[in-house]
Amino acid sequence: MTERTFSIIKPDATARNLTGKINAVIEDAGLRIVAQRRIRMTEDQAKKFYEVHKERPFYGELVGQMTSAPVVVQVLEGENAVAKYREIMGATNPEQAAEGTIRKQFALNVGENSVHGSDSQENAKIEIAQFFTDDQIVG
Ligand code: CMP
Repeated sequence: MTERTFSIIKPDATARNLTGKINAVIEDAGLRIVAQRRIRMTEDQAKKFYEVHKERPFYGELVGQMTSAPVVVQVLEGENAVAKYREIMGATNPEQAAEGTIRKQFALNVGENSVHGSDSQENAKIEIAQFFTDDQIVG
């Protein structure tokens, strides 16, 4: 089934000029980038986005990292896009990520792990709506 997922190319990756290399992995996997914008995430946006993690010890560090440099927010479209993107991102911790995945190739550590992808279709819809209006997504 064709579906959409939400992606963020994180500050550690934009800072190292990796946007194009990461987009190449995404497109080579058959996912289409149907919306994309480079932004500086505000503290309020980052706090809201990661609200589910607010009780975790790394929440403050996470919000700090996400606001430390520009990010690229994206909508990806394709067959089973949520699961497919999670597969090509690799495990959250790059030490556990499979060979060839984005995080294995580019991530620095579990906090600076280069990309975010939605974990379910329900969350994809919520996350997409935080950054894009329907007319900004051109499939
Ligand atoms: P992401 O997929 O964006 O979802 C939550 C993020 O929290 C995760 O990627 C990591 O960047 C970050 N994270 C998860 N676990 C840890 C941890 N133990 N220490 C620091 N950051 C973490």
